[in-house]
Amino acid sequence: MAATVYVNGQIFDQERAVISVFDHGFLYGEGVYETLRTYQGQPFLFDRHLRRLRRSADMIALPIPLGDAEILARIHDTQTAAGLRGDSAEHEAYIRILITRGIGDLTYDPAATPRPSVIIIVKPHVQLPEDVYRSGVAAVIVPVVRNLPASVNPLIKSNNLLNNALAAQDAVRRHAFEGIMRNHRGELAEGSTSNLFIVRGGQVLTPPLEAGLLPGITREFIFEIGADLGIPVREAVLKDADLFAADEAFLTSTTREALAIVRVDERVIGAGVGGPVTRRLLESYRARALAGAV
Ligand SMILES: Cc1ncc(COP(=O)(O)O)c(C=O)c1O
Repeated sequence: MAATVYVNGQIFDQERAVISVFDHGFLYGEGVYETLRTYQGQPFLFDRHLRRLRRSADMIALPIPLGDAEILARIHDTQTAAGLRGDSAEHEAYIRILITRGIGDLTYDPAATPRPSVIIIVKPHVQLPEDVYRSGVAAVIVPVVRNLPASVNPLIKSNNLLNNALAAQDAVRRHAFEGIMRNHRGELAEGSTSNLFIVRGGQVLTPPLEAGLLPGITREFIFEIGADLGIPVREAVLKDADLFAADEAFLTSTTREALAIVRVDERVIGAGVGGPVTRRLLESYRARALAGAV
């Protein structure tokens, strides 16, 4: 799965795309990122992703050296170099933008790193097979606790991903597709790379931002789709028991859209297959994506 990568002004193939070991993104995990995907060649919800990127960067006092239009132009250049301008479903792109503190001496002092690094990774988007959307996936609740908002705030989409990596590793060990983290109060927060929703009595519920989680762009979009379809979507504090007793559950992310969760810790959720509310939201999501929603 070859990637094409923009690194600080130049585009490289996967083997030649390198960054200095003195980049503070590598040394200290100091950086922020966004993952986007294209529909018909266009980075979906670009403006929203850029807004979140800038919010994340502000929260770690990291200046982003390029404007939105320039970042979009560099994404297009990298897509073109990768042969991924999206003229068919096989040519959709996965896009990861990373901004790191930059290269400097071994000190936390930001003065040591006057030039942030900008990296854009483009590779083919790998779509999950349709039968996975129909049959749903298994998740596990992991013992790794989501960061406290007063530590590395989960609002920051940070390159400092050890917390999420540990949760995902646990899920892999237990043969699950996703690991769901609780917060320090024991409430459900989110997956290692996704937001969590349940359906109960026709209502769609998702943990509040205040629980300590990433404000997913897909999550936000699900609220808007629900409002249009007349499906109530609201935030609610959720515990393990709410998930186990749900009629349906699903996860959301840019690359997985809305994906049914049908087993959690070996317990069957709802009917044990992707449910009708999840399906309606997914279909509407895709229709909007293909229509070029912003
Ligand atoms: C921790 C976490 N939560 C939620 C999400 C979903 O966010 P989005 O819908 O913006 O892709 C991600 C995406 O990677 C994530 O890493």
